[in-house]
Amino acid sequence: MMSPTRRTFLGLSGAAAVTAVLAAVGSDWFTGNGTGSHGALLPSRVPLPEPFTTALPIPREITPTDGVVDLVARRSAVEVLPGRTTEILGYDGTFPGPTIRARAGEPLRVRLRNELDLDTVLHLHGGVTPPEHDGYPTDVVVPGTVRDYDYPLGQRAAPLWYHDHAMDFTGPNVYAGLAGMALLTDDEEEALGLPSGERDIPLVICDRSFDADGAFAYPLIDPSRGRPGVELRYHGGLLGDCVLVNGAPWPVLEVDAARYRFRLLNASNARRYELALDQGATFTQVGTDLGLLEKPWVRSTLPLAGAERADVVVDFSDLPVGTEVTMTNRLDGGGPGQVMRFRVVRTASDDSRVPDRLSTIERLDPGAVAVTRDLHFALGPTGGAHHGGGMWNVNGITFHDGDVFTSRLGTLERWRLTTDVHHPIHAHLVGFQVEGPDGTPAWKDTVDLRPGDAREVLVPIEGYRGQYVLHCHNLEHEDMMMMVHFSVA
Ligand code: C2O
Ligand code: CU
Ligand code: CU
Repeated sequence: MMSPTRRTFLGLSGAAAVTAVLAAVGSDWFTGNGTGSHGALLPSRVPLPEPFTTALPIPREITPTDGVVDLVARRSAVEVLPGRTTEILGYDGTFPGPTIRARAGEPLRVRLRNELDLDTVLHLHGGVTPPEHDGYPTDVVVPGTVRDYDYPLGQRAAPLWYHDHAMDFTGPNVYAGLAGMALLTDDEEEALGLPSGERDIPLVICDRSFDADGAFAYPLIDPSRGRPGVELRYHGGLLGDCVLVNGAPWPVLEVDAARYRFRLLNASNARRYELALDQGATFTQVGTDLGLLEKPWVRSTLPLAGAERADVVVDFSDLPVGTEVTMTNRLDGGGPGQVMRFRVVRTASDDSRVPDRLSTIERLDPGAVAVTRDLHFALGPTGGAHHGGGMWNVNGITFHDGDVFTSRLGTLERWRLTTDVHHPIHAHLVGFQVEGPDGTPAWKDTVDLRPGDAREVLVPIEGYRGQYVLHCHNLEHEDMMMMVHFSVA
């Protein structure tokens, strides 16, 4: 096992940030920080539509038949901007892909047929999955073949999502459309009486930019994919100027004057959001990446970095018919500062509720920690052989350098995460226990670190033995080497 020391590499940019004072280890995982996104804006080369003129699409829902769900990854041409076609890579040809509704504790098989002309890998983000089904980045499904992914789903109800995870090309593949939600439910969650049916809606939020012909614009350094990586300007991350929700630009949803449950997912490659509502509306957060909070948390703003989810209830019942509630992103102005709008169109009955007590989360004992690991996410000189030049990395090493560490199944670890610039950090297989609202514990699979930040998470090593990845979920950082693997033994 290596003994990582904290290093301060000088890099292409952000060198000053490395020297920033480390924040005290704190409980403000969910409070955001008012600073924007790390990356560069790629302006669209077509006129973008007026916000709030397109209806919010609701992705098709699929449930397992005899435990099996079929997905076909394929190209298709869809209308994203009114009157134009955009070619996407989509599960079942749609973006987002269908919403999978499944039950925690019931094994799910996803049968993926790859009808693309490129390799793909399917990853269930947030799933506790054996290594051979987890979507290891080099374990590809080649074109023209079918692969069964078996998910035992021995875990809590949670808003998971699935996406491509191909080595070096996750950024362009997800940007092209290979992402969808997988909502797990269980008896505990169903008994709560939260809004359901047509009032339980996934909101997949991402930013995109468009080429002159209406295509999604992605600045691959080599469009033939002979070598990975994006143009130098976008090494920090690609930021689009058009916000899509469920694949539609700044859409509008007509709602009843009632409570709604929204499963928010930030599926952007690099953009962070700090979501807010107007007209006095608030978010009542009931869950995080990996399931229910202990109790509801009323919030006026809601930060969401790449891959993070928030399970929220919004109550429109006191608003007069005709009221328009706009969801904005406080980290930006202009197009990226707008997200979507809700229009209250009718009164309606509503028997949903948000109980004061949602769940019980066993608090892990820091005294039981067997191993403490330091993981530093920063720009550094390594990665050169593969990518040529300074690259994002973890502890100065990259995917090609072997396991960053080996963990022992059944033990508790503490990971001390540090950063140079913004990095949303995600590990496969394991969950992170963090401080939630009012000192209650909460479960996350992705935690957002600020520039020069230092945070600790408790990580129970549970599930399966084998090799998994740990990476930054800024997809440009991930593809450009900020991904390492670890083993569970
Ligand atoms: Cu969202 Cu390694 O994944
Ligand atoms: Cu994942
Ligand atoms: Cu990063």
